[in-house]
Amino acid sequence: MVDVKQLTPLSYQLGEGPYWDETNQYLLFVDIMKGDVHRHYPANSKHQTIHVEEGPTGDSVSFALPVEGKPSYLVVGLGRSLALVEWPLDAPDTLTVKAKAILHSVDQHSPTNRFNDGKCDPMGRIWAGTMAAETAPGVLAKHKGALYTLNTDLSIATGVDKISLSNGLAWNKEATTMYYIDSTDYAIYAFNYNAASGKIDNRRTVLDYKAASLGDDIPDGMTIDNKGNLWVANFYGHKVICIDPQVGKIIRQVSLPASNITSVCWGGTDYSTLYVTSSQVGISEDKVRTDKAQGGVFAVTGLGAQGAPPTNFKVDLSLLKSKIN
Ligand code: BGC
Ligand code: CA
Repeated sequence: MVDVKQLTPLSYQLGEGPYWDETNQYLLFVDIMKGDVHRHYPANSKHQTIHVEEGPTGDSVSFALPVEGKPSYLVVGLGRSLALVEWPLDAPDTLTVKAKAILHSVDQHSPTNRFNDGKCDPMGRIWAGTMAAETAPGVLAKHKGALYTLNTDLSIATGVDKISLSNGLAWNKEATTMYYIDSTDYAIYAFNYNAASGKIDNRRTVLDYKAASLGDDIPDGMTIDNKGNLWVANFYGHKVICIDPQVGKIIRQVSLPASNITSVCWGGTDYSTLYVTSSQVGISEDKVRTDKAQGGVFAVTGLGAQGAPPTNFKVDLSLLKSKIN
């Protein structure tokens, strides 16, 4: 039986970027416009939050990815920058931190752009994309962003340019295909992925939302299960959909009590819990006040599906430390 539980008593403005930390068994997620990163231990409900101070290109925090071998270090998308922050495991429950280093800033041509979703590929590089400022969810100037790769030697490369609203990101377990979403294209894409070089090519569409009659649903965050099926968060859709990318068909839908589903990840001791984030943006103040599910984070169990542990950022640690002043 599928069971949906709200994980924390609080809800969040733009909950995003769920990430299961294998070593310490906590869920990381961000509240983008607030500039907060949350750490929640489901085993005992311990909850900690950091607020990241504004950086040189903005104050949004769009993802947080742990550094392999240095669990207190996180790379975050801070405005248009990729920044390093430190969050010790024994920190007080709430803390404000300042970036220890700005690794790169991008999109100088469009100062109000910000980073959005970011994730590590199977080799431990960070892939993170940008977007223009929105006036409402999905309403923004088109083709102003790009998808970037932060390599393990801290060099940066452009993976795809002219992106509108960078989202999604998942790799198959053979590490030959990368799945990606540019939300306002209302499509899920696949690319051939070369793990050794970090290069992608041969973009094709796996699912066209309009052709699949998904109405106004916006495809947002995405993960993959051990059978190679994609699980996609549908903003405005009250649901997560499961797609078999081999045939380009929706094979399951999971309803959620929140309208604006933003992202998903597998977690829990055996990676059979699907953690789901959501957003309050675009929902009336009244509704947000009276319905705590809007902007909630959820744990979905009983799906009969499982994912694999995520990959941390496998950066050269001495190089990373040389960036700290
Ligand atoms: C972005 C939001 C956007 C939403 C649309 C999210 O990834 O952070 O700003 O409104 O995608 O689905
Ligand atoms: Ca997203």
